[in-house]
This record gives sequence, structure tokens and C-alpha cells, in this order.
Amino acid sequence: PAARYAPAIVVGSGYGAAVAALRLGQAGVRTVVLEMGRLWNTPGPDGKVFPSTSAPDQRSMWFRNRTEAPLAQFLWLDVVNRDISPYPGVLDRVNYDGMSVYVGRGVGGGSLVNGGMAPTPRRSYFSEVLPRVDADEMYGTYYPRARAMLGVGDIDPAWFESTEWYRFARISRKHAGNTGLRTTFVPNVYDFAYMQREAAGTATRSALAGEVIYGNNHGKKSLDKTYLAAALGTGNVTIETLQRVVGVRRDPSGGYVLTVRTIDLTGRVTQTRELGCAQLFLGAGSLGTTEILLRARETGSLPELAEAVGRGWGHNGNVMTARANHLWDTVGANQATMPALGIDDWDNAANPVFAEIAPLPMGFEHWISMYLAITKNPERGHFTYDAAADAARLNWTRDQNAPSVAAAKNLFDRVNRANFTIYRYDLFGGNRAFADDFTYHPLGGCVLGEATDDYGRAKGYRGLYVVDGSLIPGSLGVNPFVTITTLAERNMARILAEDPR
Ligand code: FDA
Repeated sequence: PAARYAPAIVVGSGYGAAVAALRLGQAGVRTVVLEMGRLWNTPGPDGKVFPSTSAPDQRSMWFRNRTEAPLAQFLWLDVVNRDISPYPGVLDRVNYDGMSVYVGRGVGGGSLVNGGMAPTPRRSYFSEVLPRVDADEMYGTYYPRARAMLGVGDIDPAWFESTEWYRFARISRKHAGNTGLRTTFVPNVYDFAYMQREAAGTATRSALAGEVIYGNNHGKKSLDKTYLAAALGTGNVTIETLQRVVGVRRDPSGGYVLTVRTIDLTGRVTQTRELGCAQLFLGAGSLGTTEILLRARETGSLPELAEAVGRGWGHNGNVMTARANHLWDTVGANQATMPALGIDDWDNAANPVFAEIAPLPMGFEHWISMYLAITKNPERGHFTYDAAADAARLNWTRDQNAPSVAAAKNLFDRVNRANFTIYRYDLFGGNRAFADDFTYHPLGGCVLGEATDDYGRAKGYRGLYVVDGSLIPGSLGVNPFVTITTLAERNMARILAEDPR
């Protein structure tokens, strides 16, 4: 048995992990957070912590020789990606055979790189997805708690109507309106008051300077500024970075022993340690947590884990598409990187779609309307353990995206017909109008009530918990981080009230 390193260990530092760390710390439990990425608090040679999307460098991506931005091409030219040197950068693209998954790496996980969109799902759809979770409790107590802690806010509608920075969204709203479709404001964790000061020229620009997928230097209330700061403030929580958890086994005297690799900034493993704990909270995200548990089950270190570990994965039906506007419908050279509006057609039972109106800030007029469509795709993938590579492999085929593409096409064919416009084919590579080969919303792999009990306790192992997006069975109908946070709040409240420590 390894010496006990801490009463509780939390793996990862994204949404679920951050909630676990805070609530454990407040309950007086000494907790160590292990995060494979960096702490993003030190300016580089350019004086900035994060690079901008237009000038990516080594900080942009997780150990790459070249950036892999979602828009591979523009006007069929490869102008977006850049050669970089390998480094523990903030955005990773995990490439499986039929699907690539973007994830954040660093203290704060996905909150460092995401678009900050913070919607709450339709209650009816939430109950369809997680029927055994008490929706009264979620919508009455835990969603408000999570939104308050995350700092979710709304854009000032008057400013939205007048600013050049959201012209792109107003044009898309007009075209949706011409089609008879409803648009809705989407709350965000970016500080819109700060954004207004950026526009006025009184604050350093971040969302108005193209910053988003490689991190925001200002304005974004990422987890390091909210939950994780509060967790550290309890005095009971510490965070260790560049620590990758690879193995978990049971400690014969109770609790768990983790195998943890420390890496340096070149990616070299400088140390491998065994760290013991009484309670283990897995918050490494849908891919990370599922891989840790699948490896543990398949290599025999936690053989009693449920068959359901590795199953029930989905990408929230993500598809991107873009339309070419008429020359008089300019979208503006200046675009905020934080989306603020969505086309909400989720109640259309025949073809439910929630399409975020996405910016494409290129610094010049391009007449493009971009969308990230969230669709209701019934297909699910599963992970298998590849022993040779010692990694989890996602089994997902491109044809499983067909329902998502069909739903997005159904909606945007209508928009194009109503506005006499066409799709853009030059943005995603391969002359395609729909990008269905990547996702920002990995969900599932350790589904609530299947791989775990109804509160995230791993079946078969006392004191082992799943707290992140792997609990949600593949679909949510809206952007997921508020719900991941809310579910973690609900589960942690129960676990801290009931489970022995
Ligand atoms: P999350 O992925 O946040 O955190 C997991 C952490 O664990 C990471 O920091 C990772 O480095 C670490 N980790 C993984 N394996 C590990 C290991 N073995 N050892 C140690 N650490 C390990 N959502 C939304 O609601 N609104 C939005 O606008 C967007 N936009 C968006 C844009 C982009 C570009 C991306 C990539 C994603 C989004 N998302 C989003 C999705 C959102 O960010 C995502 O759903 C959440 O971050 C998932 O939260 P989790 O807690 O599940 O894990």
C-alpha cells in the first residue's frame, strides 16, 4: 500500500472537478487536485498569457507540431493553421477514427478555451435525458447555485442592437426571422460589461481581439477565477499541475492508489509516483475519466467496474455549417468571439435543432454566417481499451453523424430558401457544407445510473466517484457546461451528506 497522500484526490480541474474540489474543501476535507495541463497565469514573451487565434504559437495546442484549428481552410487556402513547437498548450484535439474531440488542457479544463455560452436546457428535454434525476431539485436549487458560482450573465439588449461587434448575429437573426424561426439570447460567463468597455476603447481587448479557443486574456470568468479560486480559498485544497493520472487500483487497507506521471514542458516524463487517497473523484472529462476507468477495468486493477463503463458516448449532435450572404448583408469585419444568440427550434418535434450563431472574426468582411448546430442524434459510440497503445479508442463511424447532418441541413435549407442564399463549401475542407468530423461537446462514457449509481458513485467501488461530463448520456440539446456543473453540485451535496469519510 502507498502512503496516503491526501484524504481526497480530484483528477482534472474542469467543471465537475472544480465543484468537487470546492465542496470538499468547504467540508473540511484536505484535497489534492491533479491536472495534466499547465497553470495559465504567467505571461509569455509577448506579455500575454494566451496567444490570439490569428497568431497561434506553442501555447495554442497540446504537444503539436502544427495547430489544428476547426476551420482548416478559408477560400480553399490553408491560411489558418501554423507550425508550432510541441508544448503543453491549452487546446487539445483528440483524433479518433471517425471523430475528433476538442478539449481544454490546464487548470480550468474546458473553461479556458470555450465560448462561455451558458444556457440551461429545456426542462422537458433534461428529464428525457436523465429521467431519474429530480428535475424540481435541479431547476429549483442546483441550476441557480451553479449559475451564480459560474458568474453567468446576460448581454445588454440595447448594446447588442447597436454595436458593430454583434452585427453578424443580427444578420443571422434577420435571416432566421425571414424563415419563421425564433432566436434567443444565450447567457455567457464572459463579462459583457467588460466587453462594452473593450468596444469603448477603455479596456484591453480580448473577446474583441479574436481571443477564444486558445484562451482569453481578459473578461472570461473561467474556473480558475470562480470555483477553483474559491476552492483554494478554503485552505484545504491544493492543485498540482503537469500531473497525468494513468492508473488506479484499490489500496488493500482501504481507499485508492493512483499512478501519476509528472511531465515537463517538453512532455518528458520526469517522475512516476503512486499516490494514495481515501476518496477519489474523477473529473478528467468524458474522454479522460472514461479512459482511466476503462483501463483500470481492462487491465484488472478495478475488475468489478460496470460493463457500462465506456458506453453511452455522444457528441451532443454537434455540426457546423456556414452560409454565404448577399453582398448587402454584411456581417462586419469586427466580430466578438463570444456567441450571444441562438436559433431555437428545439420544440420542432420533427426536427429539433438549437443552432448557436457563431462568430468568424477574420478582421475583414467575408459575408459568412456561421453556426454550431446542436441536434438530437440518437446514435451512441463506445470506447474500447487498446492494450498496445494503452489508450481508450472511441468507436464512432462517420455515418453515425448522418442524423445530425440531416437535421442541420433541414433547418438551414429552409433558411437558405427563405433568403435566396447558399452554403459555403470552402471552410471545412473537402468541399463540404457541413463539418461533422469534430465536436466541442463530448458527453458520456460513464453514464449516471449505469456506470455509476444515481449520484456518480462508481458501481462496485465505494469511495470512487465520477463528477464530470462523462455522466451525461451523449446529448443535452444545449451547450453543456452549466449542466455538468449543476449535476456535480447535486451529486456532491448528496455524497458529502451521506458517505463516510
Ligand atoms: P473538462 O474537459 O472541462 O476538464 C477535464 C480536465 O481534466 C482537463 O483540464 C484535462 O486536462 C484534465 N485531464 C484529463 N485527463 C487527465 C488525466 N489523465 N490526468 C490528469 N488530468 C486530466 N460548453 C458550453 O457549455 N458552452 C460553450 O460555449 C462551449 N464552447 C466550447 C468551445 C470549445 C473550443 C471547447 C473545446 C469546448 C466548448 N464547450 C462549451 C464544452 C465545455 O467546455 C465542456 O463540456 C466542459 O469543459 C466539460 O467539462 P468536464 O468537467 O467534463 O471536463
